[in-house]
Amino acid sequence: MSFTIAIDGPAAAGKGTISKAVAAHFGFAHLDTGLLYRAVGAKTLDGTDAIAAAQALVAEDLEADNLRSPEVAQAASRVAVIAEVRAALEDFQRAFARRAGGAVLDGRDIGTVICPNAEAKLFVTASAEVRAERRFKELVDKGLETRFETVLADVKERDARDRDRAEAPMVAAKDATVIDTSALSIDDAIAAAVSAIE
Ligand code: C5P
Repeated sequence: MSFTIAIDGPAAAGKGTISKAVAAHFGFAHLDTGLLYRAVGAKTLDGTDAIAAAQALVAEDLEADNLRSPEVAQAASRVAVIAEVRAALEDFQRAFARRAGGAVLDGRDIGTVICPNAEAKLFVTASAEVRAERRFKELVDKGLETRFETVLADVKERDARDRDRAEAPMVAAKDATVIDTSALSIDDAIAAAVSAIE
């Protein structure tokens, strides 16, 4: 028996933290599907064709250590508009979702396109300002020099590209529970997610 939890939402809304905590709570495996697009995006930065990169992607590519940078995030959202790139990544995500013992997948289109029949769906969101503030703190903690305004502009640009694209746009599934984490602590956001799923 498989049980799939789909967690979608924009960048830095708390999806990753919530997904990991939910997976640990239920004893399920977790896949951060953004890493797939980041791994493809990273390859295009050295000139590789996006579709070829997506078709040749292997599990080790997800462990590259540059995948969390702002440049790779932007490259990921640029390759994510290409239908052939998305198609090349579908089988891996669906196979992961069906694994025995349960799976949590987080991304933008899990509840709408990848796993429309998921047993539980969440859409985790927060205001652009709150998300940019969180991302800004993360980057500063990592020692990167950046300005809040730059991070906010980056978040808004990526939101717009993810939301307005023709293929698998970022949108809450009709049957998803929306959790706005703008005013929630991490613990409260996790508690809200677990109780919605239960
Ligand atoms: O979640 P993360 O910020 O790592 O995602 C990076 C980019 O990958 C997103 O901005 C989006 O364009 C793309 N993505 C997607 N569909 C997913 C996950 C990520 O299009 N399921």
